[in-house]
Amino acid sequence: MRTLAVLASGNGTNFEALALAARRGELGGRVALLLCDRPEAPVIERARRLEIECVQPPTGRFRTRIEDEAPWLEELRRRGIEVLLLAGFMRRLHQTLLGAYPDAILNIHPSLLPAFPGLDAVAQALAHGVRVTGCTVHLVDADLDAGPIVAQEAVEVRDGDSESALAARIHEVERRLYPRAVRRFLTEPWRREGRRIVFGASRIEAGHA
Ligand code: GAR
Repeated sequence: MRTLAVLASGNGTNFEALALAARRGELGGRVALLLCDRPEAPVIERARRLEIECVQPPTGRFRTRIEDEAPWLEELRRRGIEVLLLAGFMRRLHQTLLGAYPDAILNIHPSLLPAFPGLDAVAQALAHGVRVTGCTVHLVDADLDAGPIVAQEAVEVRDGDSESALAARIHEVERRLYPRAVRRFLTEPWRREGRRIVFGASRIEAGHA
């Protein structure tokens, strides 16, 4: 059973879905820690209710990154965290954390990447006029919302949709998709082929050499 930490900045519905799935034994890991960068974020109260430890290491002077990731890494190492799950964490990670967790950081993003990376993905999709959007679970690397894709699910854009109505339907799908994608990522064999993540034992491992 792997030891997981969630990093979140906001409401925390994905955090809660992950933590509840873990509690039901459906995540393939144990959510041992929440790391939060905003003292007023509702996700903190959710962690308290679920009796999951929450820490808020210093973020430094910048809004979109952690100035010094070393204290964050220290908190993770101290608890033996093996995999990081970003769930509405609104800062980009850099070398200290990315280097410590190669192929072990997942993120959920509210669009069908590579469409609409970055902030306000739902508003971007509406403004562009797409008929289908959705959400993506992907590995995190140094580029913004660009790592290899683990899972995606489509959500139809309806005529007359408001941003909040569309976002609510995407959030509903996210809460289902993210725990399933994490479980698959943690419990099934997978390998990279170029940008692709391929699940399943390779032919050699499966005895078909
Ligand atoms: C989710 O929709 C997630 O996809 C998005 O923030 C929301 C967090 O909701 N993440 C990003 O936009 C990352 N670029 P939550 O706090 O209720 O889980």
